[in-house]
Amino acid sequence: MSNKIIDGKLISSEIREKVKKFGSQLKNKTGKVPGLAVVLVGENPASRVYVKNKIEKTIEVGFNSIEHKLSEKVSENELIDLVDKLNNDENVQGILVQLPLPEHVNSDKILDRIKPEKDVDGFHANNVGKLWSGLNSLVPCTPLGCSILIKKISKDLSGKHAVIIGRSNIVGKPMAALLLEMNATVTICHSRTKDLESVCKNADIIVAAVGIPEMVKSNWIKEGSIIIDVGINRIERDAKKILVGDVDYDDCLTKCSLITPVPGGVGPMTIACLLLNTLLASYPQFNQPTPDLSSILE
Ligand code: GUN
Repeated sequence: MSNKIIDGKLISSEIREKVKKFGSQLKNKTGKVPGLAVVLVGENPASRVYVKNKIEKTIEVGFNSIEHKLSEKVSENELIDLVDKLNNDENVQGILVQLPLPEHVNSDKILDRIKPEKDVDGFHANNVGKLWSGLNSLVPCTPLGCSILIKKISKDLSGKHAVIIGRSNIVGKPMAALLLEMNATVTICHSRTKDLESVCKNADIIVAAVGIPEMVKSNWIKEGSIIIDVGINRIERDAKKILVGDVDYDDCLTKCSLITPVPGGVGPMTIACLLLNTLLASYPQFNQPTPDLSSILE
């Protein structure tokens, strides 16, 4: 493996080991095991794969997995009732409602119904506000995973220009807050950005989360830049179905200093951070002091 590759698969498995160790210490102290409830609505094939992986890894770290698979036709009120039930269930410390939800359901309403202290996705307005205020909060899993990878390279990004491509609530916006906390100068780009290429050429760090296969080419990037590729795009090449990121990996590899591969980069970090968030959410619910994130990860 090239020494330019950031091995998210390895780093995520180390994090899951640490979560398992801290979870078992918490159980020894309190007699309680963290529980993660996952709610899947409908038959979206990608969501089904993600949820299956989340459940498998939850069980692997020794947590309880609570699964709710609902029909595409479920009403908004039925979903709200389920969230209320999980909010009040003392065997559930974390709640994740897999997105996207069907169009007839108002996702914001459902996400804001989750108790902020059980919001392991970090999507509740209370957690979003805390993140942007620099306060302790549950942080969305994918950007948290990206920030852990970046912190392995450098904890302080003073003087560095970070460019995020994509302004979603799941990745782009929370990623900007985390990079600001690390003292980077941050630019968020999106579909209406003029001359995206030249903005990227100025970046020391690029986080690509746009959902367009292999959009970022080597002539878009600065020599020695760090590339974090959040994209997971299923495409067909040479009559084979493959996964590619938002960055043209082969093209950028020689020019960048470090890059996350797809698969095996950011993807596995997202699940590891979901388990990390479930662990972090469990301490206050079990009346225990929450350790620092850095003391868990060290
Ligand atoms: N769909 C795609 N990414 C995510 C995520 O991080 N959390 C949830 N709940 N749904 C998603």
